[in-house]
Amino acid sequence: MTQSASPHDLSGRIAVVTGASRGIGEASARALDRAGARVVISGRTQSDLERVASTLTNDPVIVQADLSQPRSGTALAERILSEVGGIDILVNNAGIPMRRTPEQLTEDDVDAVFSINVRSLLMLTVGLGPSMIERGGGSIVNISSVAGLHGPIGRVAYAGTKGAVDAMTRALAADWGPQGVRVNSIAPGIITTAIWEESRNTVPGLIEQLEQGVALKRWGDSDDIADVVVFFASDASRYVTGETLAVDGGMARIGTAKVKLPEMED
Ligand SMILES: NC(=O)c1ccc[n+]([C@@H]2O[C@H](COP(=O)([O-])OP(=O)(O)OC[C@H]3O[C@@H](n4cnc5c(N)ncnc54)[C@H](OP(=O)(O)O)[C@@H]3O)[C@@H](O)[C@H]2O)c1
Repeated sequence: MTQSASPHDLSGRIAVVTGASRGIGEASARALDRAGARVVISGRTQSDLERVASTLTNDPVIVQADLSQPRSGTALAERILSEVGGIDILVNNAGIPMRRTPEQLTEDDVDAVFSINVRSLLMLTVGLGPSMIERGGGSIVNISSVAGLHGPIGRVAYAGTKGAVDAMTRALAADWGPQGVRVNSIAPGIITTAIWEESRNTVPGLIEQLEQGVALKRWGDSDDIADVVVFFASDASRYVTGETLAVDGGMARIGTAKVKLPEMED
């Protein structure tokens, strides 16, 4: 009896991961490589990218880029296409946080967070999508955030970028569905990466308070997200498009505030 290939098998596919130099992007690049894909990794810091590439087994490609600059998404797409020809999987993961109250927020803050989290993400995607269509289809996985699903305090600009990512996910799924390109987003909850470093040090009690809002009562790690990236990248999710999946241990959509009703025992 012949064994049919696993729907998670990515052998022969070419994947791109932005923000692959650490955190969720690094874990996603490793997971895609383990599943058999050849992975193109991008980020600003060459030495970090080299460190990640040294852990990958399927002839990885490094394409360094700063996605904060105008036209950098388009330029990165062109460079990737000249390196590998065409791609099958795109993981739009690069992003920056922006913790500012409405009173603190400046035009420069808004430009900074929208340029990376939204503009470059979209222009990289429209630059690479046609190569997926030429190859008969593909999968785009956008990393958004639970911040785009609920109303986080003090993060209006960041939440706006992530809501935009989810909205673009649905719109592109409509545009490219007929050509076999699926587009989904993952909304991570609280994941232990460098993105939290500043808040950890400057907001007392933040870590513990956030954990209270998670049904599973723990922070996530980058592999918790990477495994879902592989699911969306692979044929295991072949009939799923335009979706946003919260991968948050039960945070965004579950109210876990502890309310004690009179008839409840301790
Ligand atoms: N961690 C969480 O709790 C959490 C929750 C919800 C959503 N997310 C989202 O998940 C994604 C990854 O976050 P993370 O937690 O893994 O963060 P991280 O550890 O800070 O990693 C961010 C990645 O993005 C790259 N990057 C940052 N600025 C860039 C720029 N201007 N141009 C190109 N690349 C840039 C970084 O590489 P270089 O600095 O070397 O360029 C790094 O590889 C982000 O989109 C974030 O919004 C994270």
